[in-house]
Amino acid sequence: MTFEYAPAPESRSIVSIKPKYGHFINGSFVAGKKHFPTINPATEEILSHIALGGVSDVDKAVMAAQKAYTKTWSKLSGKERGKYLYRIARILQERAREFAVLETLDNGKPIRETRDIDIPLVAAHFFYHAGWADKLDYAGLGHNPKAYGVAGQIIPWNFPLLMLAWKVAPALATGNTVVLKPAETTSLTALLFAEVCQQAELPDGVVNIVTGDGSTGSAIVNHSGIHKIAFTGSTEVGKKIARAIASTDKKATLELGGKGANVVFDDAPVDETVEGIVNGIFFNQGHVCCAGSRLIVQESIAEEIIEKLKVRMAKIRVGDPLDKNTDLGAINSKEQLVKIKELSAIGDAEGAERWSPQCNLSNKGFWFAPTIFTGVTQAHRIAQEEIFGPVLSVLTFRTPQEAMDKANNTPFGLSAGIWSEKGSRIFWASQHLKAGVIWANTFNKFDPASPFGGYKESGWGREGGKHGLAAYLKNGKETGAK
Ligand code: NAI
Ligand code: MG
Repeated sequence: MTFEYAPAPESRSIVSIKPKYGHFINGSFVAGKKHFPTINPATEEILSHIALGGVSDVDKAVMAAQKAYTKTWSKLSGKERGKYLYRIARILQERAREFAVLETLDNGKPIRETRDIDIPLVAAHFFYHAGWADKLDYAGLGHNPKAYGVAGQIIPWNFPLLMLAWKVAPALATGNTVVLKPAETTSLTALLFAEVCQQAELPDGVVNIVTGDGSTGSAIVNHSGIHKIAFTGSTEVGKKIARAIASTDKKATLELGGKGANVVFDDAPVDETVEGIVNGIFFNQGHVCCAGSRLIVQESIAEEIIEKLKVRMAKIRVGDPLDKNTDLGAINSKEQLVKIKELSAIGDAEGAERWSPQCNLSNKGFWFAPTIFTGVTQAHRIAQEEIFGPVLSVLTFRTPQEAMDKANNTPFGLSAGIWSEKGSRIFWASQHLKAGVIWANTFNKFDPASPFGGYKESGWGREGGKHGLAAYLKNGKETGAK
């Protein structure tokens, strides 16, 4: 007997969205000139209009941040800065439901994830960094480490508020002030965060938010008043930023793409592994830089794993992101959907075999069924390029060394997973995988204390933990960043 799930929609009445937003500069909202719509990708409903920031808006924001740095923020003790961060963290917890609903509306990800993962992790990042603010001298980062001044921060649309937290919390804890630009499709939670800064009575100009597109981001990167850039997004834009700052004294951390390998050995616990594979690639619609988008499974158990994976995938509920039962929400934008469709079509054309469970997808909004490709070889583009959607490429191996060679054979090196019951095999594999983050018998686990970042084209530097603090300090002993 099977039970059907009755719809369990979360109410959206807790959020109030203004028809139009400006930028948040020097503690106040200031009107923008041009605006563009932001939509709910599950319905294509226009939620609001967002200001398109230009060079002069960025300039005003940088001046406000510089003034706040010199006059206020750099004069406060770490303990006082920490108090503001604790206050922000507590307000975020109090307003968690509002943030979760707003994030789901603007981004398309399921409420179950915004409520249980994104927003709790956001608060955790502020709490964690609040704790460091008065202990920087004891963090092993050198004596009396100094802030850069103004940090320019550019974030993507896949974890909008979480990426803001990853950027703003360490910057403020280390004594920097910030100018941040959210992604064009997901600005609303950043603008609600601006209200939280007001509510916390954070001194004016310590956090400035300028909304806009790539041209706005580029104005931040090229502003002479900014000494530190933190970027998360595509490798393509990451390379542009690296070129733009090459001849300057600007420091940067770049958190870019990935093509994570989930390596399954023949002694892996099958049912847990299948859960881990599903979580690795279908969490957040696969819009995850560290997604386990390549399954590299030992040949002797491949058939069993794939069979069980298909049974499990047929149970993934795709639909209304505000429904508490939903597992897989909407694709964030039409552009991203086109990209996923294009790369999947290339998978077909190159001879891989596509499979998806039966799904009733709405005609409104942007949707893509959970998909696996079997029979994938290393030469296939779907084994090399980031699809950034709910699409898994399956490869097989015979010997452990072959698994490592295949896992490392991409231009990226962000994440990897190992599934095995044997501890020595896990340690051996973790020493051979070229990835910044390696999970064993789990996947997509995040913690503010744990540094995150990649090798090769996955980026420069680390965010989170002590490594992440170092990236915001002039004499912070960091490795891997410019
Ligand atoms: P993107 O890299 O263009 O956007 C990320 C952010 O950078 C946005 O805020 C955007 O406005 C800004 N930006 C764009 N051009 C810029 C420039 N020249 N200078 C400064 N800032 C600039 O990413 P997009 O186009 O939304 O996604 C394309 C692909 O990138 C995805 O399909 C995925 O493969 C990858 N991606 C990876 C992410 C990650 O978490 N590592 C996040 C988002 C996208
Ligand atoms: Mg949107």
